[in-house]
Amino acid sequence: MTAVSADDVRKQYTYSQDDFERVRATVFKIAGIRLQDTKVTMVYSRLSRRLRALGIGSFRDYLGLVDKSETEQQEFVNALTTNLTSFFREPHHFAALEKYLRAHPKTTAIWCAASSTGEEPYSIAMTVAEVFGTFSPGIKIIASDIDSKVLATARQGIYKAQTLNKMPMERQKQFFYRGKGSHTGNVRVIDDVRKMVTFRQINLTDDNYGFNHNMDVIFCRNVMIYFDKPTQYKVLNNLVSHLNKDGLYIAGHSEHFTEANHLIRPVGKTIYAPVR
Ligand SMILES: C[S@@+](CC[C@H](N)C(=O)[O-])C[C@H]1O[C@@H](n2cnc3c(N)ncnc32)[C@H](O)[C@@H]1O
Repeated sequence: MTAVSADDVRKQYTYSQDDFERVRATVFKIAGIRLQDTKVTMVYSRLSRRLRALGIGSFRDYLGLVDKSETEQQEFVNALTTNLTSFFREPHHFAALEKYLRAHPKTTAIWCAASSTGEEPYSIAMTVAEVFGTFSPGIKIIASDIDSKVLATARQGIYKAQTLNKMPMERQKQFFYRGKGSHTGNVRVIDDVRKMVTFRQINLTDDNYGFNHNMDVIFCRNVMIYFDKPTQYKVLNNLVSHLNKDGLYIAGHSEHFTEANHLIRPVGKTIYAPVR
């Protein structure tokens, strides 16, 4: 078989500006994600995999299916989310978590609200285990995402060994199994740490997240950047309403909320406390 070039692939399925606009409107309606004009090619390449898998020849037919099928809507969202993450990403947030836990030893709940493939909530769990010296400290760690595929990866807790490259060896040894034989090159988060985290599917743009308790710390990092301002405000308002009054809201490095200073106030680098 001869290799298919990017140009050939581009011509493989009928894809018009109207189709792109329909994708944009649909992903905004479902997930609050605002796709910029520059994402035309990204949309083509991510969704053409679904067309290929389903044997559908045009974006128009595919989008008709998305309208009708909830299962395909989930696949559509999974294809369009950006899931970049890493262990102990933005380390200062984990130092702040450690400090918070030492000052609030009665902490009961931490929510990681866009957990992607799990590196972030497992980093939270490792920090908790290090601070309290136990894998059962009586703290609920809830991790959620809209994307069902990343949640499945997160639950498994299996990663490429190189994802640990920047992690001190002591942590690697304490919290990971090294794959052997056919698993060489992979690592797995140890069962004790995996059991500390409960994964759930939550769409942050929903009105109700279904919690019947409040959180002490909410990590909501690098997801607001995909929302427009009104959606950011709605989500922030909803998240902060789930935060205890002496709790922490931890945002991503480029997420600032200057227009929401009646909801949260900065207490550190992209770290906020609720205003009550
Ligand atoms: C770039 S990742 C950030 C991962 C992690 N928080 C971090 O900072 O490393 C963004 C995540 O937000 C999720 N996401 C996007 N829209 C969402 C929504 N409406 N509700 C919940 N999660 C959403 C995506 O599926 C993706 O996994």
